[in-house]
Amino acid sequence: PPPVTASTVNWARSQPPLLRFLHTCYANFLAEAGGAVADYIPELGKADPAHFGISLATLDGHVYEVGDTRVPFTIQSMSKPFVFALALDTLGAERVESVIGVEPSGDPFNSIRLNADNHPFNAMVNAGAIACSGLLHAGKGDGAFDYIRHALGRFAGRELDVDEAVYASESATGDRNRAIGYLLRTNSVITENVPAVLDVYFRQCAILVTARDTAVMAATLANRGINPLTGEQVVTPYAIARTLSVMTSSGMYDYAGEWIYRVGIPAKSGVGGGILAALPARLGLGSYSPKLDKHGNSVRGIKVCEALSAHYDLHML
Ligand code: DON
Repeated sequence: PPPVTASTVNWARSQPPLLRFLHTCYANFLAEAGGAVADYIPELGKADPAHFGISLATLDGHVYEVGDTRVPFTIQSMSKPFVFALALDTLGAERVESVIGVEPSGDPFNSIRLNADNHPFNAMVNAGAIACSGLLHAGKGDGAFDYIRHALGRFAGRELDVDEAVYASESATGDRNRAIGYLLRTNSVITENVPAVLDVYFRQCAILVTARDTAVMAATLANRGINPLTGEQVVTPYAIARTLSVMTSSGMYDYAGEWIYRVGIPAKSGVGGGILAALPARLGLGSYSPKLDKHGNSVRGIKVCEALSAHYDLHML
């Protein structure tokens, strides 16, 4: 797509209504002043706060894009639903569900609190995601990370790389996640070597995607696991239904209730600045804008999802 400037207004007028709507969102929320780029992972602090990209993929394989939709950023917590779905299919639902809960925690994403069984509340918070990485490490050994990277690539329809600098930066500073890892091991949620599991988790969080990739990945979730561009069945419909359920109740952390009330679309955010939203049987949305609110959710991304839901009456209830 051409860069969005006043001179592209005439171009936009000749475009399909959905693309025009995305342009309107872009123009309306570009000046949004709120939020701050995450810097608790030092390398993330280098993101350009001006970047803003919106992409929407339909289930018949159209991908609409406005703004910085080809700028790579790290997937971070948006990896969690895909790795959860992969764990369900790889290890069996019984194994995964025996150690990871499905209740919202109401806590921030990095909370160290476990549930009454000393298990993670769900797979969307760090504790549950680290448990998923541990289960995949138990199943796949040293090949676990590449197994995850290839699977995420099938959701995106292309091979995905890792941002080595972000990986190294989180690995050097991620003591809270390490503490969660040891807490999981002492409670027998994971049985693996903790540094090896954290290495898988930090690497999976540093996988590079674009807003366009995110839209396609979300559309694959919305399409019962079939990538609408490649036609590949990436994971089972069982795994998709359970993953979207947990995204619905917990994908936006301690904002999840407000989100499902106001927007009504299963979604997942990442501190890299991405939001992915998957409306079953309808569409996938990916947005990128690195300024985050206090919950760790992209400020502009939330605005886009609210506007999309309201404009097209997409609230699922
Ligand atoms: O574990 C962390 O803190 C990061 N790698 C991911 C956190 C994250 O993306 C939370 N999302 N909004």
